[in-house]
Amino acid sequence: MCGIVGYIGEKEVTRILLEGLKRLEYRGYDSAGIAILDNAEISVVKEKGKIAELERSIPQKKYENNIGIAHTRWATHGEPSKANAHPHLSFDGKIAVVHNGIIENHAILKKRLQAEGVSFKSETDSEVLPHLIAKYYNGSIEKAVQKALLDVEGTFGILVLCLDEPEVIIGARHGSPVVLGIGHNEMFIASDISAIVSYTRNVVYLEDNEMVVLKKNQYRTLSLTATEIIKEVHEIDWNIEQIEKAGFEHFMLKEIFEQPETIQNAFRGRMLMDEGISKLGGIPFNSSEFHKVDRIIIIACGTSYYASLVGEYLLEDIAEIPVEVEYASEFRYRNPIITPNTVVFVISQSGETADTLAALREARRKGAKVYGITNVVGSTIARETDGGAYIHAGPEIGVASTKAFTSQLVVLILVTLAFGRRSRLSRDKGIRILKGLKELPEKVREVLAQAEHIKKIAEKYHAYNNALYLGRGYNYPVALEGALKLKEISYVHAEGYPAAEMKHGPIALIDENMPVVAIVTNSSIIDKVISNIQEVKARKGQVIAIATEGNASIQELCDDVIYVPDVIEPLSPIINTIPLQLFAYYIAVMRDCTVDQPRNLAKSVTVE
Ligand code: M6R
Repeated sequence: MCGIVGYIGEKEVTRILLEGLKRLEYRGYDSAGIAILDNAEISVVKEKGKIAELERSIPQKKYENNIGIAHTRWATHGEPSKANAHPHLSFDGKIAVVHNGIIENHAILKKRLQAEGVSFKSETDSEVLPHLIAKYYNGSIEKAVQKALLDVEGTFGILVLCLDEPEVIIGARHGSPVVLGIGHNEMFIASDISAIVSYTRNVVYLEDNEMVVLKKNQYRTLSLTATEIIKEVHEIDWNIEQIEKAGFEHFMLKEIFEQPETIQNAFRGRMLMDEGISKLGGIPFNSSEFHKVDRIIIIACGTSYYASLVGEYLLEDIAEIPVEVEYASEFRYRNPIITPNTVVFVISQSGETADTLAALREARRKGAKVYGITNVVGSTIARETDGGAYIHAGPEIGVASTKAFTSQLVVLILVTLAFGRRSRLSRDKGIRILKGLKELPEKVREVLAQAEHIKKIAEKYHAYNNALYLGRGYNYPVALEGALKLKEISYVHAEGYPAAEMKHGPIALIDENMPVVAIVTNSSIIDKVISNIQEVKARKGQVIAIATEGNASIQELCDDVIYVPDVIEPLSPIINTIPLQLFAYYIAVMRDCTVDQPRNLAKSVTVE
């Protein structure tokens, strides 16, 4: 995730900014940069890679004005490179901007600016900001920023430097955090208090649509529409480790709780609601090739494989295209049949998984066009595919994948709509799915609000050494993913099964020592899942149900129930995954496991 930091005061500005950037390293980044106001110019230094590289490139000199801004970038638009790193300068070199977030209408703004003669130096969405601000500058940087932000759709946390106003930093926020730190004869500003907490513990948090005009000895907070606002000053009493995890005990828990935002980031700017269709870049075909696609193979590993299985249900059910899902490790050594109109999808959070990469190369060798769904921009898989979509989940630090899974599902839904609306899927159904997707972040928040209830259930079951997860249809892969989460972080043996398959073997395991997690949310086959639960109960199994709000009768049948809000069936895997992540997390904590770094596992599996 990108990080921003700014300083104005009397200390050596480069030292403060570099220390701030180092404090943000834990968030993940691929490049970094710094801009200092240096009398006659804004001097910018950027580097791809580690902050140590940047540090080496910064000239050893004393600046007269100790005012500057800096950034760690985690690529979303444009590969990790020196040119795409922030800060970005305006065409006249007088405005420098660092930006976190996504400018959704950057393509339109870029075209407009190019028509006015502006040439761009990067592939980023962010670069439109300094150019726009410079266009509007007429003696007041505060007003120019306000005007520019009126043109912008999307999310931003920004810091702005202006050569003609060398005593000011402007900060503004919409959707990406900005916090200002108050010092004595100095001010700090950052995306994250960890960057500034070693200098001051007095902070002011900007809310969405607010900005700050920062000087060495004073600051003014106001709305983006120029109304002055008096804000409370908070005193921080967290330590650095607590701050990095945003107060959560583990990165995994933090990432679970980030899902309302990460789900939104995955669909942001990608819906054409009135047409019931998605707008995804990176589809590697012309329109006639796209219409001819008659078979899809999806290749992945681990959690990404389970996301792919949900993709199979989505694409077959909604877009009516035959889909096969393959473990990458198997695909690479088989003799897969690639027909002329087959498209191969590869799904990988890291974009570096060795098996998935080898399978992708095999598919391309056989002539397939390959579409990638990855999280890490510029990763090997992202570079080697013919096209694809990023899930924009931000860095996932916990080894167990959580937010990446739900974001992969969002992108798969958008891909399904793109294929579905070619012919089979009606506009009305497309609109219904998009509306449901738009409501999801709020519904996910409702599930997260039940964390304490889920923790109590985990308390009851945390000492058992086995568990069975059952689901059907769209939620069969969710049962597999729930079981994987439990086994990888708590070392409890867990299996996922299609609920009806239980009677063909696993039912022999059922007794009072085998907790069964049953996904029994509203669906076309809910009655059949209920029958499967009855089979478990008849054999003294204990059942924890994930059920839809309003289903009162399920309480009589099951030992424990976690309710989730009602959603349309294709979206149910997203909402139903959240309680399973929390359940696994709490059990792992209660069993004293190293949740963020489970034994024997790596975040990115780059060996065969
Ligand atoms: O980065 P990828 O999505 O390609 O990784 C695939 C698997 O290694 C990964 O999902 C793994 O199963 C995780 N530990 C799941 O939590």
